[in-house]
Amino acid sequence: MSNALNQKDKAWSGRFSEPVSELVQRYTASVTFDQRLALFDIQGSLAHAGMLASVGLLSAKDLADIQKGMAQIQQEIESGQFQWSIALEDVHLNIEKRLTDLIGDAGKRLHTARSRNDQVATDIRLWLRATIDEIRKALAQVRLALINQAEQHTQTIMPGFTHLQVAQPISFGHHLLAYAAMFARDDERLVDARKRVNRLPLGAAALAGSSFPIDREMVAKTLGFEGVCENSLDAVSDRDFAIEFTHTASLIMMHISRLSEELILWMTSRYGFVVLPDRFCTGSSIMPQKKNPDVPELARGKTGRVYGHLMGLLTLMKGQPLAYNKDNQEDKEPLFDTADTVLDTLRAFAEMIEGMQPQPKAMRQAALEGYATATDLADYLVKKGLPFRDAHEAVAHAVRAAVEKKCGLEDLSLEDLKAFSPLVEADVHQVLTLEGSLNARNHLGGTAPEQVKAQAQKARAALPKL
Ligand code: ARG
Repeated sequence: MSNALNQKDKAWSGRFSEPVSELVQRYTASVTFDQRLALFDIQGSLAHAGMLASVGLLSAKDLADIQKGMAQIQQEIESGQFQWSIALEDVHLNIEKRLTDLIGDAGKRLHTARSRNDQVATDIRLWLRATIDEIRKALAQVRLALINQAEQHTQTIMPGFTHLQVAQPISFGHHLLAYAAMFARDDERLVDARKRVNRLPLGAAALAGSSFPIDREMVAKTLGFEGVCENSLDAVSDRDFAIEFTHTASLIMMHISRLSEELILWMTSRYGFVVLPDRFCTGSSIMPQKKNPDVPELARGKTGRVYGHLMGLLTLMKGQPLAYNKDNQEDKEPLFDTADTVLDTLRAFAEMIEGMQPQPKAMRQAALEGYATATDLADYLVKKGLPFRDAHEAVAHAVRAAVEKKCGLEDLSLEDLKAFSPLVEADVHQVLTLEGSLNARNHLGGTAPEQVKAQAQKARAALPKL
Protein backbone atom coordinates (compact mmCIF):
# COMPACT_ATOMS: atom_id res chain seq x y z
CA MET A 1 0.00 0.00 0.00
CA SER A 2 1.41 3.36 -0.92
CA ASN A 3 1.29 6.50 1.17
CA ALA A 4 2.89 8.78 -1.37
CA LEU A 5 0.50 11.58 -2.05
CA ASN A 6 0.68 15.28 -2.33
CA GLN A 7 -0.97 16.92 0.63
CA LYS A 8 -3.02 19.01 -1.80
CA ASP A 9 -4.55 15.83 -3.22
CA LYS A 10 -6.34 15.14 0.03
CA ALA A 11 -10.05 15.78 -0.30
CA TRP A 12 -10.06 18.16 2.66
CA SER A 13 -6.55 19.70 2.47
CA GLY A 14 -7.75 23.20 1.56
CA ARG A 15 -8.45 24.10 5.18
CA PHE A 16 -5.05 22.99 6.49
CA SER A 17 -1.69 24.74 6.74
CA GLU A 18 0.54 21.71 7.39
CA PRO A 19 0.43 18.04 6.42
CA VAL A 20 -0.64 15.46 9.00
CA SER A 21 2.23 13.49 10.49
CA GLU A 22 2.83 10.02 9.23
CA LEU A 23 1.76 8.54 12.53
CA VAL A 24 -1.51 10.46 12.53
CA GLN A 25 -2.07 9.49 8.92
CA ARG A 26 -1.70 5.84 9.83
CA TYR A 27 -3.68 6.28 13.04
CA THR A 28 -6.66 7.87 11.35
CA ALA A 29 -6.71 5.84 8.15
CA SER A 30 -9.13 2.97 7.73
CA VAL A 31 -8.32 1.89 4.20
CA THR A 32 -6.27 -1.10 5.35
CA PHE A 33 -9.50 -2.70 6.54
CA ASP A 34 -12.43 -0.80 5.00
CA GLN A 35 -11.28 -1.59 1.44
CA ARG A 36 -13.32 -4.70 2.10
CA LEU A 37 -16.38 -2.48 1.52
CA ALA A 38 -15.18 -1.39 -1.92
CA LEU A 39 -17.75 -3.13 -4.09
CA PHE A 40 -20.59 -1.96 -1.85
CA ASP A 41 -19.15 1.56 -1.98
CA ILE A 42 -19.27 1.44 -5.76
CA GLN A 43 -22.81 0.04 -5.72
CA GLY A 44 -23.92 2.87 -3.42
CA SER A 45 -22.16 5.50 -5.54
CA LEU A 46 -23.81 4.25 -8.73
CA ALA A 47 -27.25 4.41 -7.12
CA HIS A 48 -26.51 7.90 -5.85
CA ALA A 49 -25.25 9.05 -9.26
CA GLY A 50 -28.32 7.58 -10.97
CA MET A 51 -30.55 9.55 -8.62
CA LEU A 52 -28.54 12.77 -9.12
CA ALA A 53 -29.00 12.41 -12.87
CA SER A 54 -32.68 11.64 -12.55
CA VAL A 55 -33.38 14.82 -10.53
CA GLY A 56 -31.24 16.90 -12.90
CA LEU A 57 -28.18 17.38 -10.70
CA LEU A 58 -25.91 15.44 -13.04
CA SER A 59 -25.84 15.37 -16.85
CA ALA A 60 -26.43 12.18 -18.76
CA LYS A 61 -22.83 12.40 -19.99
CA ASP A 62 -21.47 12.72 -16.45
CA LEU A 63 -23.53 9.75 -15.31
CA ALA A 64 -22.27 7.65 -18.21
CA ASP A 65 -18.66 8.63 -17.40
CA ILE A 66 -19.15 7.75 -13.74
CA GLN A 67 -20.60 4.37 -14.68
CA LYS A 68 -17.74 3.67 -17.04
CA GLY A 69 -15.12 4.81 -14.56
CA MET A 70 -16.64 2.73 -11.76
CA ALA A 71 -16.73 -0.35 -13.98
CA GLN A 72 -13.01 0.02 -14.58
CA ILE A 73 -12.31 0.62 -10.88
CA GLN A 74 -14.32 -2.45 -9.95
CA GLN A 75 -12.30 -4.47 -12.44
CA GLU A 76 -9.05 -3.09 -11.01
CA ILE A 77 -10.12 -3.96 -7.47
CA GLU A 78 -11.28 -7.45 -8.37
CA SER A 79 -8.09 -8.22 -10.23
CA GLY A 80 -5.96 -6.85 -7.39
CA GLN A 81 -4.44 -4.07 -9.51
CA PHE A 82 -6.04 -1.17 -7.68
CA GLN A 83 -3.47 0.99 -5.91
CA TRP A 84 -4.74 1.65 -2.39
CA SER A 85 -3.20 4.60 -0.62
CA ILE A 86 -3.04 5.22 3.12
CA ALA A 87 -2.73 8.92 2.42
CA LEU A 88 -6.23 8.79 0.95
CA GLU A 89 -7.51 7.62 4.31
CA ASP A 90 -10.38 5.34 3.51
CA VAL A 91 -12.10 3.27 0.85
CA HIS A 92 -14.38 6.15 -0.14
CA LEU A 93 -11.64 8.68 -0.88
CA ASN A 94 -9.46 6.11 -2.60
CA ILE A 95 -12.20 5.25 -5.04
CA GLU A 96 -13.28 8.85 -5.56
CA LYS A 97 -9.72 9.94 -6.31
CA ARG A 98 -9.22 7.16 -8.82
CA LEU A 99 -12.54 8.02 -10.45
CA THR A 100 -11.51 11.63 -10.83
CA ASP A 101 -8.14 10.59 -12.25
CA LEU A 102 -9.98 8.47 -14.80
CA ILE A 103 -12.88 10.71 -15.82
CA GLY A 104 -12.10 14.23 -14.59
CA ASP A 105 -14.78 16.64 -13.37
CA ALA A 106 -17.66 14.16 -13.44
CA GLY A 107 -15.79 12.26 -10.70
CA LYS A 108 -15.69 15.40 -8.60
CA ARG A 109 -19.44 15.94 -9.03
CA LEU A 110 -20.33 12.53 -7.60
CA HIS A 111 -20.04 13.74 -4.03
CA THR A 112 -22.83 16.33 -4.53
CA ALA A 113 -25.53 15.95 -1.85
CA ARG A 114 -23.52 13.28 -0.04
CA SER A 115 -21.02 12.98 2.78
CA ARG A 116 -18.74 10.17 3.79
CA ASN A 117 -20.89 9.96 6.90
CA ASP A 118 -23.98 8.72 5.09
CA GLN A 119 -21.81 6.94 2.53
CA VAL A 120 -20.05 4.75 5.08
CA ALA A 121 -23.27 3.99 6.94
CA THR A 122 -24.76 2.86 3.62
CA ASP A 123 -21.74 0.70 2.77
CA ILE A 124 -21.82 -1.10 6.10
CA ARG A 125 -25.53 -1.78 5.80
CA LEU A 126 -25.12 -3.17 2.29
CA TRP A 127 -22.23 -5.33 3.43
CA LEU A 128 -24.02 -6.52 6.54
CA ARG A 129 -27.19 -7.36 4.63
CA ALA A 130 -25.20 -9.61 2.28
CA THR A 131 -23.28 -11.07 5.22
CA ILE A 132 -26.45 -11.93 7.12
CA ASP A 133 -27.68 -13.79 4.05
CA GLU A 134 -24.41 -15.76 3.91
CA ILE A 135 -24.59 -16.59 7.61
CA ARG A 136 -28.19 -17.74 7.28
CA LYS A 137 -27.09 -20.14 4.55
CA ALA A 138 -24.25 -21.54 6.65
CA LEU A 139 -26.53 -21.82 9.66
CA ALA A 140 -29.09 -23.70 7.57
CA GLN A 141 -26.35 -26.19 6.61
CA VAL A 142 -25.58 -26.83 10.29
CA ARG A 143 -29.29 -27.30 11.00
CA LEU A 144 -29.57 -29.67 8.07
CA ALA A 145 -26.61 -31.76 9.28
CA LEU A 146 -28.16 -32.01 12.75
CA ILE A 147 -31.52 -33.01 11.29
CA ASN A 148 -29.94 -35.64 9.02
CA GLN A 149 -28.07 -37.18 11.96
CA ALA A 150 -31.16 -36.97 14.18
CA GLU A 151 -33.25 -38.84 11.64
CA GLN A 152 -30.69 -41.63 11.55
CA HIS A 153 -30.72 -41.83 15.34
CA THR A 154 -34.29 -41.43 16.55
CA GLN A 155 -33.95 -44.90 18.14
CA THR A 156 -30.39 -44.54 19.40
CA ILE A 157 -30.55 -44.32 23.17
CA MET A 158 -28.18 -42.24 25.26
CA PRO A 159 -28.30 -41.07 28.85
CA GLY A 160 -29.80 -37.61 29.18
CA PHE A 161 -28.02 -35.57 31.83
CA THR A 162 -28.89 -32.98 34.41
CA HIS A 163 -26.01 -31.62 36.50
CA LEU A 164 -23.92 -33.78 34.19
CA GLN A 165 -25.27 -36.79 36.14
CA VAL A 166 -27.18 -39.49 34.30
CA ALA A 167 -30.84 -38.48 34.52
CA GLN A 168 -33.17 -40.25 32.08
CA PRO A 169 -32.69 -42.13 28.84
CA ILE A 170 -33.26 -40.04 25.74
CA SER A 171 -33.06 -40.45 22.01
CA PHE A 172 -29.75 -39.20 20.57
CA GLY A 173 -31.79 -37.67 17.77
CA HIS A 174 -33.78 -35.74 20.36
CA HIS A 175 -30.57 -34.39 21.85
CA LEU A 176 -29.31 -33.20 18.45
CA LEU A 177 -32.64 -31.60 17.61
CA ALA A 178 -32.39 -29.48 20.75
CA TYR A 179 -29.50 -27.72 18.99
CA ALA A 180 -31.47 -27.54 15.76
CA ALA A 181 -34.17 -25.70 17.75
CA MET A 182 -31.62 -23.23 19.16
CA PHE A 183 -30.22 -22.52 15.72
CA ALA A 184 -33.71 -22.09 14.31
CA ARG A 185 -34.27 -19.29 16.83
CA ASP A 186 -30.92 -17.77 15.89
CA ASP A 187 -32.11 -17.70 12.30
CA GLU A 188 -35.28 -15.90 13.36
CA ARG A 189 -33.12 -13.33 15.10
CA LEU A 190 -31.02 -12.84 11.96
CA VAL A 191 -34.13 -12.33 9.86
CA ASP A 192 -35.43 -9.82 12.37
CA ALA A 193 -32.15 -7.91 12.65
CA ARG A 194 -31.89 -7.80 8.85
CA LYS A 195 -35.08 -5.73 8.66
CA ARG A 196 -33.45 -2.94 10.64
CA VAL A 197 -30.17 -3.25 8.75
CA ASN A 198 -32.02 -2.90 5.47
CA ARG A 199 -32.71 0.85 5.59
CA LEU A 200 -31.03 3.59 3.61
CA PRO A 201 -28.94 6.27 5.38
CA LEU A 202 -27.81 7.96 2.14
CA GLY A 203 -29.29 11.43 1.77
CA ALA A 204 -28.64 12.27 5.41
CA ALA A 205 -25.38 13.75 4.07
CA ALA A 206 -23.10 14.95 6.88
CA LEU A 207 -25.90 15.05 9.46
CA ALA A 208 -28.66 17.48 8.55
CA GLY A 209 -29.74 16.34 5.10
CA SER A 210 -29.01 18.05 1.82
CA SER A 211 -29.99 21.37 0.27
CA PHE A 212 -30.42 19.64 -3.10
CA PRO A 213 -33.73 18.17 -4.27
CA ILE A 214 -32.68 14.56 -3.74
CA ASP A 215 -34.92 11.52 -4.05
CA ARG A 216 -33.99 9.17 -1.24
CA GLU A 217 -36.76 6.70 -1.95
CA MET A 218 -35.40 6.19 -5.43
CA VAL A 219 -31.94 5.37 -4.08
CA ALA A 220 -33.48 3.02 -1.51
CA LYS A 221 -35.34 1.22 -4.24
CA THR A 222 -32.28 0.91 -6.48
CA LEU A 223 -30.27 -0.59 -3.62
CA GLY A 224 -33.05 -2.93 -2.51
CA PHE A 225 -33.53 -1.26 0.88
CA GLU A 226 -36.92 -1.70 2.52
CA GLY A 227 -37.09 1.96 3.49
CA VAL A 228 -35.04 5.02 4.40
CA CYS A 229 -33.69 6.07 7.78
CA GLU A 230 -36.11 8.86 8.49
CA ASN A 231 -34.02 11.03 10.76
CA SER A 232 -30.80 12.27 9.20
CA LEU A 233 -28.94 12.52 12.53
CA ASP A 234 -29.91 8.99 13.46
CA ALA A 235 -29.01 7.76 9.97
CA VAL A 236 -25.35 8.79 10.19
CA SER A 237 -24.69 8.20 13.85
CA ASP A 238 -26.25 5.06 15.26
CA ARG A 239 -24.78 1.63 14.82
CA ASP A 240 -27.43 -0.24 16.80
CA PHE A 241 -28.10 -2.46 13.80
CA ALA A 242 -24.47 -3.61 13.89
CA ILE A 243 -24.70 -4.26 17.62
CA GLU A 244 -27.89 -6.26 17.13
CA PHE A 245 -26.16 -8.38 14.54
CA THR A 246 -23.19 -8.95 16.84
CA HIS A 247 -25.56 -9.89 19.62
CA THR A 248 -27.22 -12.48 17.42
CA ALA A 249 -23.78 -13.69 16.36
CA SER A 250 -22.87 -14.02 20.05
CA LEU A 251 -25.92 -16.20 20.65
CA ILE A 252 -25.02 -18.37 17.67
CA MET A 253 -21.52 -18.79 19.07
CA MET A 254 -22.92 -19.47 22.54
CA HIS A 255 -24.98 -22.32 21.11
CA ILE A 256 -22.02 -23.55 19.08
CA SER A 257 -19.89 -23.43 22.20
CA ARG A 258 -22.33 -25.56 24.20
CA LEU A 259 -22.42 -28.09 21.40
CA SER A 260 -18.62 -27.97 21.28
CA GLU A 261 -18.37 -28.67 24.97
CA GLU A 262 -20.53 -31.75 24.52
CA LEU A 263 -18.61 -32.97 21.48
CA ILE A 264 -15.38 -32.60 23.44
CA LEU A 265 -16.81 -34.64 26.33
CA TRP A 266 -18.31 -37.21 23.98
CA MET A 267 -14.94 -37.64 22.24
CA THR A 268 -13.18 -38.63 25.48
CA SER A 269 -12.62 -42.32 26.16
CA ARG A 270 -14.81 -42.02 29.29
CA TYR A 271 -17.81 -41.25 27.10
CA GLY A 272 -16.89 -42.48 23.65
CA PHE A 273 -20.31 -41.38 22.35
CA VAL A 274 -19.06 -40.06 19.02
CA VAL A 275 -16.10 -40.19 16.71
CA LEU A 276 -15.30 -37.02 14.80
CA PRO A 277 -13.74 -37.30 11.36
CA ASP A 278 -9.94 -37.13 11.46
CA ARG A 279 -9.91 -34.01 9.31
CA PHE A 280 -11.46 -32.06 12.21
CA CYS A 281 -8.95 -33.26 14.78
CA THR A 282 -5.23 -32.94 15.36
CA GLY A 283 -2.60 -35.00 17.10
CA SER A 284 -0.14 -34.19 19.84
CA SER A 285 3.52 -33.57 19.15
CA ILE A 286 4.50 -35.63 22.20
CA MET A 287 1.69 -38.12 22.94
CA PRO A 288 1.30 -40.44 19.96
CA GLN A 289 -2.10 -41.77 21.08
CA LYS A 290 -3.85 -38.39 21.04
CA LYS A 291 -6.64 -37.32 18.72
CA ASN A 292 -7.77 -33.92 19.90
CA PRO A 293 -11.09 -32.29 19.00
CA ASP A 294 -9.44 -29.03 17.95
CA VAL A 295 -12.30 -27.63 15.90
CA PRO A 296 -14.87 -27.73 18.75
CA GLU A 297 -12.24 -26.47 21.20
CA LEU A 298 -11.36 -23.55 18.96
CA ALA A 299 -15.02 -22.76 18.39
CA ARG A 300 -15.53 -22.67 22.15
CA GLY A 301 -12.54 -20.36 22.39
CA LYS A 302 -13.58 -18.12 19.52
CA THR A 303 -16.93 -17.56 21.20
CA GLY A 304 -15.03 -15.32 23.61
CA ARG A 305 -13.76 -13.03 20.90
CA VAL A 306 -17.25 -12.58 19.43
CA TYR A 307 -18.60 -11.67 22.88
CA GLY A 308 -15.67 -9.26 23.09
CA HIS A 309 -16.73 -7.59 19.86
CA LEU A 310 -20.26 -7.17 21.21
CA MET A 311 -18.89 -5.45 24.30
CA GLY A 312 -16.55 -3.40 22.13
CA LEU A 313 -19.34 -2.11 19.91
CA LEU A 314 -21.66 -1.33 22.82
CA THR A 315 -18.85 0.61 24.46
CA LEU A 316 -17.99 2.35 21.19
CA MET A 317 -21.51 3.77 21.01
CA LYS A 318 -22.27 4.63 24.59
CA GLY A 319 -20.45 7.94 24.94
CA GLN A 320 -21.06 9.44 21.53
CA PRO A 321 -23.01 12.66 21.23
CA LEU A 322 -25.01 13.09 18.03
CA ALA A 323 -24.26 12.87 15.22
CA TYR A 324 -21.32 11.20 13.43
CA ASN A 325 -18.02 10.90 15.28
CA LYS A 326 -14.83 9.36 14.04
CA ASP A 327 -15.20 6.78 16.82
CA ASN A 328 -17.54 4.99 14.45
CA GLN A 329 -14.67 4.07 12.19
CA GLU A 330 -13.87 1.52 14.90
CA ASP A 331 -17.06 -0.39 14.13
CA LYS A 332 -15.61 -2.21 11.15
CA GLU A 333 -12.90 -4.49 12.44
CA PRO A 334 -15.08 -6.06 15.17
CA LEU A 335 -17.92 -6.46 12.70
CA PHE A 336 -15.74 -8.05 10.05
CA ASP A 337 -14.11 -10.36 12.55
CA THR A 338 -17.49 -11.34 13.99
CA ALA A 339 -18.78 -12.25 10.54
CA ASP A 340 -15.61 -14.14 9.57
CA THR A 341 -15.54 -16.06 12.84
CA VAL A 342 -19.20 -17.04 12.70
CA LEU A 343 -19.07 -18.00 9.03
CA ASP A 344 -15.93 -20.12 9.32
CA THR A 345 -17.25 -21.78 12.45
CA LEU A 346 -20.63 -22.62 10.94
CA ARG A 347 -19.08 -23.94 7.75
CA ALA A 348 -16.73 -26.20 9.70
CA PHE A 349 -19.54 -27.41 11.93
CA ALA A 350 -21.87 -28.25 9.07
CA GLU A 351 -19.25 -30.57 7.64
CA MET A 352 -18.14 -31.93 10.99
CA ILE A 353 -21.67 -32.78 12.16
CA GLU A 354 -22.41 -34.41 8.83
CA GLY A 355 -19.30 -36.57 9.22
CA MET A 356 -19.73 -37.33 12.93
CA GLN A 357 -20.03 -41.03 13.72
CA PRO A 358 -22.29 -41.68 16.73
CA GLN A 359 -21.47 -44.77 18.82
CA PRO A 360 -24.81 -46.25 19.91
CA LYS A 361 -23.23 -49.10 21.93
CA ALA A 362 -21.28 -46.78 24.20
CA MET A 363 -24.30 -44.52 24.64
CA ARG A 364 -26.50 -47.46 25.57
CA GLN A 365 -23.97 -48.80 28.04
CA ALA A 366 -23.79 -45.40 29.74
CA ALA A 367 -27.58 -45.16 29.88
CA LEU A 368 -27.73 -48.57 31.59
CA GLU A 369 -25.26 -47.53 34.25
CA GLY A 370 -26.94 -44.60 35.89
CA TYR A 371 -30.38 -45.84 37.11
CA ALA A 372 -31.81 -43.79 34.30
CA THR A 373 -35.23 -45.49 34.51
CA ALA A 374 -35.84 -44.76 38.20
CA THR A 375 -38.38 -42.07 37.30
CA ASP A 376 -40.18 -44.61 35.13
CA LEU A 377 -40.51 -46.93 38.11
CA ALA A 378 -41.94 -44.10 40.18
CA ASP A 379 -44.37 -43.20 37.37
CA TYR A 380 -45.36 -46.89 37.22
CA LEU A 381 -46.29 -46.88 40.90
CA VAL A 382 -48.22 -43.62 40.48
CA LYS A 383 -50.21 -45.20 37.68
CA LYS A 384 -51.07 -48.01 40.13
CA GLY A 385 -52.44 -45.46 42.57
CA LEU A 386 -49.52 -44.42 44.80
CA PRO A 387 -49.06 -40.64 45.34
CA PHE A 388 -45.96 -39.42 43.49
CA ARG A 389 -44.01 -38.41 46.62
CA ASP A 390 -44.48 -41.90 48.12
CA ALA A 391 -43.52 -43.51 44.85
CA HIS A 392 -40.38 -41.34 44.76
CA GLU A 393 -39.46 -42.54 48.26
CA ALA A 394 -40.06 -46.24 47.43
CA VAL A 395 -37.92 -46.05 44.31
CA ALA A 396 -35.15 -44.23 46.17
CA HIS A 397 -34.91 -47.26 48.46
CA ALA A 398 -34.89 -49.61 45.47
CA VAL A 399 -32.03 -47.62 43.91
CA ARG A 400 -30.07 -47.81 47.17
CA ALA A 401 -30.52 -51.57 47.24
CA ALA A 402 -29.35 -51.87 43.64
CA VAL A 403 -26.33 -49.68 44.35
CA GLU A 404 -25.42 -51.98 47.23
CA LYS A 405 -25.82 -55.04 45.04
CA LYS A 406 -23.83 -53.25 42.31
CA CYS A 407 -26.56 -53.97 39.74
CA GLY A 408 -29.17 -52.14 37.73
CA LEU A 409 -32.83 -51.67 38.77
CA GLU A 410 -33.84 -54.02 35.99
CA ASP A 411 -31.57 -56.71 37.49
CA LEU A 412 -33.55 -56.78 40.75
CA SER A 413 -35.98 -59.67 40.89
CA LEU A 414 -39.73 -59.21 41.06
CA GLU A 415 -39.59 -60.30 44.72
CA ASP A 416 -36.85 -57.78 45.51
CA LEU A 417 -38.89 -55.01 43.91
CA LYS A 418 -42.12 -56.02 45.61
CA ALA A 419 -40.36 -55.43 48.93
CA PHE A 420 -40.32 -51.69 48.15
CA SER A 421 -43.95 -51.57 47.11
CA PRO A 422 -46.64 -54.23 47.04
CA LEU A 423 -48.00 -52.51 43.92
CA VAL A 424 -45.15 -53.92 41.82
CA GLU A 425 -46.33 -56.65 39.46
CA ALA A 426 -44.83 -58.76 36.68
CA ASP A 427 -45.25 -56.00 34.09
CA VAL A 428 -42.67 -53.88 35.92
CA HIS A 429 -39.64 -55.04 33.95
CA GLN A 430 -40.97 -53.64 30.69
CA VAL A 431 -41.07 -50.23 32.38
CA LEU A 432 -37.46 -50.53 33.46
CA THR A 433 -36.09 -51.00 29.96
CA LEU A 434 -34.53 -48.07 28.14
CA GLU A 435 -36.89 -48.55 25.19
CA GLY A 436 -39.91 -48.64 27.51
CA SER A 437 -38.78 -45.40 29.10
CA LEU A 438 -38.35 -43.61 25.76
CA ASN A 439 -41.56 -44.88 24.23
CA ALA A 440 -43.51 -43.79 27.27
CA ARG A 441 -42.68 -40.14 26.58
CA ASN A 442 -44.86 -39.98 23.54
CA HIS A 443 -46.23 -36.45 23.45
CA LEU A 444 -45.36 -33.23 21.66
CA GLY A 445 -41.76 -32.37 22.58
CA GLY A 446 -41.10 -35.74 24.25
CA THR A 447 -38.21 -38.08 23.48
CA ALA A 448 -40.20 -41.06 22.10
CA PRO A 449 -38.66 -41.99 18.71
CA GLU A 450 -41.98 -41.37 16.99
CA GLN A 451 -42.04 -37.82 18.34
CA VAL A 452 -38.39 -37.26 17.46
CA LYS A 453 -39.12 -38.31 13.90
CA ALA A 454 -41.98 -35.83 13.68
CA GLN A 455 -39.81 -33.15 15.23
CA ALA A 456 -37.09 -33.75 12.63
CA GLN A 457 -39.63 -33.45 9.83
CA LYS A 458 -40.87 -30.13 11.18
CA ALA A 459 -37.32 -28.84 11.60
CA ARG A 460 -36.53 -29.79 8.02
CA ALA A 461 -39.64 -28.08 6.70
CA ALA A 462 -38.67 -24.91 8.59
CA LEU A 463 -35.28 -24.62 6.87
CA PRO A 464 -35.09 -21.49 4.72
CA LYS A 465 -34.85 -22.00 0.97
CA LEU A 466 -31.72 -19.95 0.40
N1 ARG B 1 -13.62 6.16 7.36
C1 ARG B 1 -14.73 6.77 7.99
C2 ARG B 1 -15.50 5.74 8.82
O1 ARG B 1 -15.23 4.62 8.68
C3 ARG B 1 -15.66 7.34 6.95
C4 ARG B 1 -16.45 8.50 7.44
C5 ARG B 1 -15.55 9.63 7.73
N2 ARG B 1 -16.23 10.84 7.93
C6 ARG B 1 -15.64 11.89 8.40
N3 ARG B 1 -16.32 12.95 8.52
N4 ARG B 1 -14.37 11.87 8.72
O2 ARG B 1 -16.34 6.06 9.60
